[in-house]
Amino acid sequence: MGISYKELGLVNTREMFKKAMEGKYAIPAYNFNNLEQLQAIIQACVETKSPVILQVSKGARQYANATMLRYMAMGAVEYAKELGYEIPIALHLDHGDTFELCKACVDNGFSSVMIDGSHLPFEENIEITRKVVEYAHQFDVTVEGELGVLAGIEEDVKAEKSHYTNPDEVEEFVERTGVDSLAISIGTSHGAYKFKVKPGESIPPLRFDILEEIEKRLPGFPIVLHGASSVIPEYVELINKYGGNLEGAVGIPEEQLRRAATSAVCKINIDSDGRLAFTAKVREFLWNHPKEFDPRKYLKPAREELIRMYKHKNLNVLGSANKA
Ligand code: G3H
Ligand code: 13P
Ligand code: ZN
Repeated sequence: MGISYKELGLVNTREMFKKAMEGKYAIPAYNFNNLEQLQAIIQACVETKSPVILQVSKGARQYANATMLRYMAMGAVEYAKELGYEIPIALHLDHGDTFELCKACVDNGFSSVMIDGSHLPFEENIEITRKVVEYAHQFDVTVEGELGVLAGIEEDVKAEKSHYTNPDEVEEFVERTGVDSLAISIGTSHGAYKFKVKPGESIPPLRFDILEEIEKRLPGFPIVLHGASSVIPEYVELINKYGGNLEGAVGIPEEQLRRAATSAVCKINIDSDGRLAFTAKVREFLWNHPKEFDPRKYLKPAREELIRMYKHKNLNVLGSANKA
């Protein structure tokens, strides 16, 4: 065993999810890979008194370096205290794809890991997930598994439907793996192009019927929603106005996420909205200040916009504000 998350001042997700379930809100899981994103997440969550899950993908870990990340998370805990309010902070591996990667994260200060075996046949998904749970639980690290495959824009409607989580499988999966939470597929998808919507058409609603069926089979069990960015239209417009091209980018309407947050959904994953807010403000600044070349000058407004956006989500969408 290397470094325990407990030495870094982090917590696992168990208590967070218990409170979120009882209080009918969802914990924000915000992805990060750089300093400005992390500062913004912490400042927004301290100012709204919200618990938070700092989420790192495999690619983000490669980008930022595993050792740097561990100390960044430790720094985040101290930064929150310095800002004047202690909030529960978890460090979570997003979409872990091998036992070895999950183990490396458990051994290096993560308090929670996801093993994503959703693309595997059921038995193989159970096998790899159980192996990760057996390892992680020795160190009191919580584990998220996944059943069902999130829809992608390339797939046709038929294929999307067939990848929704099958409620008949959830009890056996949870029982045989021992996971602490379960990511499901009910119509969300990753990235900035979640649906193909023609002019005049509305965004297809999430499959709350499937979610309700899963809640019946797993009463009180924490559910996770991936691909939950709203792809906030004003950021898409700013990006397109200042030299970008994100035509047709569309996400999950906030009302649907608000509804999900009051259900057994205890964790809502948001990455793309952070990327969009950041890019929009960097583009705007550089477009209006072509002679500027000090990164602090153009990263500051991007960081300020992130803070505004995360606070809005905690307060008005996830309901996690004032729960820390
Ligand atoms: O679910 C995926 C996350 O948005 C992470 O994306 O692999 O590009 O870091 P990434
Ligand atoms: P978005 O692309 O909708 O932000 O989803 C992020 C996610 O699910 C990370 O695991
Ligand atoms: Zn995801």
